[in-house]
Amino acid sequence: MENKKIILSGIQPSGSATLGSYLGALKNWASLSSEFECLYMVVDMHAITTRQVPAELRKLQLEQLAQFVACGIDPDENTLFIQSHVPAHAQLAWVLNCFTMFGELSRMTQFKDKSSKNAENINAGLFTYPALQAADILLYGTDLVPVGADQKQHVELTRDIAVRFNGVFGDVFKIPEPYIPKVGAKIMDLQTPTKKMSKSEVADGGCVLIMDKPEDIMRSFKRAKTDSETEVRFDQENKPGISNLIQIYSCCTGKSFEEIENEFAGKGYGEFKPCVGEAVVELLRPIREETERLLADKAYMQEVYRKGAEKASYTANKTLRKVYKKLGFIEK
Ligand code: TYM
Repeated sequence: MENKKIILSGIQPSGSATLGSYLGALKNWASLSSEFECLYMVVDMHAITTRQVPAELRKLQLEQLAQFVACGIDPDENTLFIQSHVPAHAQLAWVLNCFTMFGELSRMTQFKDKSSKNAENINAGLFTYPALQAADILLYGTDLVPVGADQKQHVELTRDIAVRFNGVFGDVFKIPEPYIPKVGAKIMDLQTPTKKMSKSEVADGGCVLIMDKPEDIMRSFKRAKTDSETEVRFDQENKPGISNLIQIYSCCTGKSFEEIENEFAGKGYGEFKPCVGEAVVELLRPIREETERLLADKAYMQEVYRKGAEKASYTANKTLRKVYKKLGFIEK
């Protein structure tokens, strides 16, 4: 236990988890617990950087937590928790805010992207969001952060903040590394395949949610935007739509791109698209059903997040005490 490397990651409950977050992150998490000590959290505090409806946020947090378990992440083997249940995250985030530069935060792609989409609510939390994410990671002596490609920049900033802090105060933080899957790290929108699939854009069928019904998933895949050719061939630049579908099919079936190209040689998109839809439906079906079953058991869900928060708090508070001491804060 002591010598295992530490893994930590999180998902925002700002909407239902997408096929993108499943293939880019969640799907890989369950298999890591035998080799690593893993912590996974629902980051409710990150979610409020954009406006949320409280009742909906409450529901989505539990749904996300249930999905962790439904994806095969055993709550006895792993630490599953809700971010706001461990106040050390907010406490360390403040400290790290004082070690994060305005210029660094200004360069974050997610900030630029989200602030252009929410021009009426570019709040300070949205700007300093990466310092909270750095706190999440650094509190636990994390070695590896399994995320999709879009989060790489935040993990790199976390490293810079940690190195800066250690440069002043000695060896306080472990320097983490991003852990990004080879296939599935960037699943694209089915309607606009040059754009990342994202829960903020679910309306036009371009985004598939883990909890979507099979018929809706099939419809989204049959309608997926492709090009005017017919050949099922991976070519990210010229055929982004079909390349995205090949990537999704590869994640679902474990087949290589070449095997997929051979399987569908001469068959055309009309045959390929429903096959991808079917593969996704079958992959997500047990997760959706198990999530629904778990959500009905409120006492069990409560036990999972309470136990998780207790386990996480122990390490988090230890790190926070060390940081406060280094800074010169007086212990009470
Ligand atoms: P979030 O909630 O946007 O996404 C959760 C995870 O899913 C991955 N992901 C994708 N992967 C592939 N293709 C996609 N289209 C796609 N969309 C999302 C994301 O890369 C992520 O791994 N800031 C984080 C949450 C967070 C966090 C952390 C992560 C907060 N604290 C500490 C790691 C460690 C976020 O907004 O993820």
